[in-house]
Amino acid sequence: MGRGTFASIGSPLRTRRNIILSRTLPAVPRTVPDADGTTIEIHASLEAAMEAASAEAVLYIIGGESVFRQTAERADELLLTRVEDDSDGDAVFPMDEASLERWFERTAEERGAGMTFTSYRRRAGG
Ligand SMILES: NC(=O)c1ccc[n+]([C@@H]2O[C@H](COP(=O)([O-])OP(=O)(O)OC[C@H]3O[C@@H](n4cnc5c(N)ncnc54)[C@H](OP(=O)(O)O)[C@@H]3O)[C@@H](O)[C@H]2O)c1
Repeated sequence: MGRGTFASIGSPLRTRRNIILSRTLPAVPRTVPDADGTTIEIHASLEAAMEAASAEAVLYIIGGESVFRQTAERADELLLTRVEDDSDGDAVFPMDEASLERWFERTAEERGAGMTFTSYRRRAGG
């Protein structure tokens, strides 16, 4: 996740490895795990973060906008929640519907509680 997203969450996500991108935060190597397995690390480039995470079987990119812009087109899968609301915002998911449908196919969709949760898988050759 980007530094902005980490700041907006306010604490590391528990029970997992938190990889944060920042050129301004002091670089820290992976911290010693808390009792529940939570760790934090900070990398100054996407390449350094991807290299550090290369042994992970699954890597979740959780934003924000700037990080999605750098990574969305490389993702194997997308898990998108659309909230039915008209609020203004200052950060957006950077891929429009046409690009989504061009590169990814829907594999599942669920609706409820004012939200639609859609899973996508990259199309063969996409
Ligand atoms: N609705 C959702 O699903 C969702 C998900 C995630 C986030 N959000 C929201 O999105 C907002 C944050 O998005 P954002 O675009 O403003 O911020 P962001 O992407 O979370 O973080 C941006 C910061 O990340 C660092 N960064 C990004 N790319 C980097 C790279 N290649 N190498 C090194 N550092 C890099 C930079 O930090 P430095 O300035 O320290 O160098 C940059 O200023 C928040 O309001 C958050 O709540 C929403």
